[in-house]
Amino acid sequence: MAQKTFPVAVVGATGAVGNLMVQVLEERGFPVQHLKLLASARSVGKTLMYKGNCVPVEELKEDSFKGVRVALFSAGSGPSRKFAPIAAESGCVVIDNSSAWRMDPKIPLVVPEVNPHHIGPNPGIIANPNCSTIQMVVALKPIYDAVGIKRIVVTTFQAVSGTGMKAIEELRLQVEDLAAGAQIKKKVYPHQIAFNCFPHIGPFLDNGFTEEEMKMVNETRKMFDDPEIAVCATTVRVPIYYGHSESVNIETERPITVEKVRELLSNAPGVRVVDDPSNAGYPTPLQAAGQDTTLVGRIRIDPSVENGMAMWVVADNIRKGAATNAVQIAELLIERDLL
Ligand SMILES: NC(=O)c1ccc[n+]([C@@H]2O[C@H](COP(=O)([O-])OP(=O)(O)OC[C@H]3O[C@@H](n4cnc5c(N)ncnc54)[C@H](OP(=O)(O)O)[C@@H]3O)[C@@H](O)[C@H]2O)c1
Repeated sequence: MAQKTFPVAVVGATGAVGNLMVQVLEERGFPVQHLKLLASARSVGKTLMYKGNCVPVEELKEDSFKGVRVALFSAGSGPSRKFAPIAAESGCVVIDNSSAWRMDPKIPLVVPEVNPHHIGPNPGIIANPNCSTIQMVVALKPIYDAVGIKRIVVTTFQAVSGTGMKAIEELRLQVEDLAAGAQIKKKVYPHQIAFNCFPHIGPFLDNGFTEEEMKMVNETRKMFDDPEIAVCATTVRVPIYYGHSESVNIETERPITVEKVRELLSNAPGVRVVDDPSNAGYPTPLQAAGQDTTLVGRIRIDPSVENGMAMWVVADNIRKGAATNAVQIAELLIERDLL
């Protein structure tokens, strides 16, 4: 029997995530019947390559979703708030990468390796979590299921691609300007990002944390169905193009050994353990870039607390942290006959 295929739209197709979504659909052989690429009016006239063909970019409009079955959105919160309900209303399943719907109690927030069961029988909008949260929960879920986790303390080292195309360009230009002895220009970030880092991702909130830090708290609680889990995050922007790294300390409910954590993670979907420190074997962002797996290393007892464990978690933020996770959700819908 011929494979069922689906008309697919990518919204924000010219962006860092959208571009990669198109590539990931092709790489994974997603059964696309027809691909529609949408972005702002600025991008009309551009084309993107898909399976060797130039596909034109169209302007996102209210009638863009006629005949589309699945729409992968990555155009920011404003367009998602306005157009995701319009798309869902027209019979399309929306998988949204922005933060617009993530904390809406009616909308599932999904990482396929972690909480596929949150997708109900009639999906309309499904939210894709924040990039730094995705890789952390992929690494922690097997431990959570085995011995429970009471508390997480995480510090992130996040690549500029997490901010989008303009930030990738800002880092490149600043490195070139500094090498040429010229004055650097800042447009995207409040500080020079080349050869620097700053603990400031998203706006600061009244509680002293940033929005990115609170996303890690609230999204973890939602996906683990655990409003009590304690999470303290510090999110740091670093001058790296692709790949977020995270230093993660956990306090488990029941004791667990380093060997057991290694075993659990070695068998976990979407995870690869890279943990051979005496041979400089631990994950780096350069290693993770271009891959869909979450890499975990430096697994060790945290002796500062009872049942403490520390680890280092690295993943490609625009692959598993965004585009790949979204396409995996769409694949899950096909598996469950929900498309
Ligand atoms: N980068 C990441 O690691 C990451 C991870 C998870 C989630 N996300 C989320 O994904 C979204 C996109 O991020 P990005 O990094 O890909 O940003 P980006 O590189 O700046 O791309 C933004 C995309 O959105 C389009 N767009 C902007 N305003 C629009 C409008 N009013 N109507 C239609 N299209 C519009 C842009 O089209 P034009 O080119 O025509 O302007 C472009 O295609 C954001 O919500 C972000 O929070 C990003």
